Amino acid sequence: MFQLIFILPDGTETLLSVHPGTNVMDVAISNDIEGISANCRGNCACSTCHVYVEPEWLERVGVASGMEEDILDFAPDAKPESRLCCQLVMSKPLDGLRLRIPDWQRWN
Ligand code: FES
Repeated sequence: MFQLIFILPDGTETLLSVHPGTNVMDVAISNDIEGISANCRGNCACSTCHVYVEPEWLERVGVASGMEEDILDFAPDAKPESRLCCQLVMSKPLDGLRLRIPDWQRWN
């Protein structure tokens, strides 16, 4: 099992244990992580699974695909560290990954 941490805008952290190969969006939905509605259910078409990758994890997470970048263009408050968590899959290099939920998403 790997560890995955979601951080709400108020700093509250949720630590989860996940199986290797698990999609991060699926983890968020099944654990009722506030602010991740994932309206398109992982089809890279909505940006409601937007997260900020904590700085120390950016290199290991890697860059978004062109399609993901296109969708992130529609995400309010997108930043260089933005990713769509439906495009992230838990693997050994991501064990302990820390993702922050954008503030605006809590109310959408
Ligand atoms: Fe829609 Fe990720 S769930 S883009």
